[in-house]
Amino acid sequence: MKITFLGHATLEIKINEYSIIVDPFISGNPMASEINLDDLKPDFILITHAHQDHTLDVEKLAKQNDSVIVSNFEIVNHFQNKGLKGHPMNHGGKWDFDFGEVKYVNAIHTSTFPDGSNGGQPGGFIISANNKSLYIAGDTALTYDMKLIPLQYKLDLAILPIGDNFTMGYKDAIIASDFLKCNKILGYHFDTFGLIEIDQAKAIDEFKRVKKELIIIKPMEHITI
Ligand code: NI
Ligand code: MN
Repeated sequence: MKITFLGHATLEIKINEYSIIVDPFISGNPMASEINLDDLKPDFILITHAHQDHTLDVEKLAKQNDSVIVSNFEIVNHFQNKGLKGHPMNHGGKWDFDFGEVKYVNAIHTSTFPDGSNGGQPGGFIISANNKSLYIAGDTALTYDMKLIPLQYKLDLAILPIGDNFTMGYKDAIIASDFLKCNKILGYHFDTFGLIEIDQAKAIDEFKRVKKELIIIKPMEHITI
């Protein structure tokens, strides 16, 4: 799996010949201004929850690429009503897609669309393919539910929010890493706007002190697991 950070909470995951975009928020993100939406060709778009900083570019991308939208029932329904393709899921459920298995797991957050309509309950994803497993937490607090994940998955990487205020911060992400039994964390959802600014060097240092790895990369940079 090749995981490219596209700013804020947006990711592109390449598995075999498939492109999967998670939570597209590019046109509204000044820190992702060098990324051209037209260059992205997602086969699938995964959405953790309905907030604008996770859904802004879903419609355009899905229309241009005939992508399948994967999210909770309410979010998929919302986009299907606009004529887009979708695969609805709900918490605790998993499905085998062409690129691998996806499980939709719990998150503690909210999930209303920008216009106030119902975006169901927020979630995260566990993606398993080619003998690797990746957890994408979405926007969430630290939650005991994370302890359930390593009962079934040996995670190679966990992508966790570290920006605080709207989600957990990096100190809680260290505890999440314990719960998940995964010491390799890619941080996201920080520094995009004032309320989620962090001291990156300090965050990386605090992980090091407990022999864990916090990876912070710039938009368009990638890691491979
Ligand atoms: Ni949110
Ligand atoms: Mn968010």
